[in-house]
Amino acid sequence: MWDYSETVMDHYRNPRNVGKIDDADAIGIAGSLSCGDQLKIYLKIKDGIVTDAKFQTFGCGSAVASSSMLTEMIIGKTIDEVKKITNKDIADKLGGLPPEKMHCSVMGYEALEDALKNYGHDDMVDLDDLREEPVREKIVCTCFNVTENLIWDAIKQNGLKTVEEVTNYTKAGGACGKCKALIQDIIDTYYHKEEKPVQLTAAQRIIRINNIIEKTISPELQKDGGDITLVDIEGDKVMVKLRGKCSGCKNSVHTLKSFVETTLKDTVDKNIEVVEVE
Ligand code: FES
Repeated sequence: MWDYSETVMDHYRNPRNVGKIDDADAIGIAGSLSCGDQLKIYLKIKDGIVTDAKFQTFGCGSAVASSSMLTEMIIGKTIDEVKKITNKDIADKLGGLPPEKMHCSVMGYEALEDALKNYGHDDMVDLDDLREEPVREKIVCTCFNVTENLIWDAIKQNGLKTVEEVTNYTKAGGACGKCKALIQDIIDTYYHKEEKPVQLTAAQRIIRINNIIEKTISPELQKDGGDITLVDIEGDKVMVKLRGKCSGCKNSVHTLKSFVETTLKDTVDKNIEVVEVE
C-alpha cells in the first residue's frame, strides 16, 4: 500500500480543472494508453498569462492528483513562470509522492512541456532554448516510449543516480529491461562518470563474453523459442551459432546485430563484432 500525503488524497478525491477547453491555445499530451497512462492538458493563454487550464487523464490516483495540482499551479502564471515548473515542483506541492509513483509528476511536466512547444504565438516558449544540453529525442525505452530527453530531464531535475530511480520517475526500464544499459549510459554521461574502460585480460574477456551470452542474451532468445551458443572468439570477432527458432530465421541478421552485438558492445567492448558460423 502506497503512503500518500493528505494533499495527494485531496486532489485525487476532488480533482480540480478536469475536462477539456474547446478553444484551447495550446494542447499537450504525455504518455500513451498502450503504456498504461496518458495525460492531455489544455491551456488558455492571454497576453502571455495562462488564464485557464484543464486536463483529461487515464491513469492512477497519483496521475490524477499530479495533473490536478499542475493545473492549479499554472493558472494565473506568466509563460515565463510556467516554463520553470519541473516535475519536482509538482511532487513537492503534493507533499511528495512514493518513489514508484514519481513518474506521474514527470508525466505532468512532459505534458506541460509539450503544450508550451505547441503554443504557436509570437511569445511561444521554446524549452529547447533552456536546455544546457543538446536536444535529445532518441527513444531509449521502446516498451514505454520514453525519450533520452525525458530521462535526461528527470535525472537533472531530481538528482537521480540509479537505473531503478530512473524507472520510478519515467517507467523506462520497467518492463523487458533491455534499455537498462542505455539508461545507465545516460546517467554516466550526465555525471561525467565515464571512466576509462577496465582493461580485461584475454581470459577475463572470454569469461565475460561467455557470461553475458549465457546469462543475458540466451535467456532473452529462449523466450521466443530460440537460443545461441558461443563458438569461438578471435580478437574482437565473436563467433556464435543461433539455435532453435533463431536458426535460419529471416530476422537472424537483425537479431545478431541489433541485440547480440549491441548487448556485447554495451557490456564488454565497443569494438566487438558478432558473426554467425555454421
Ligand atoms: S525497452 Fe525499456 S523496459 Fe523494455
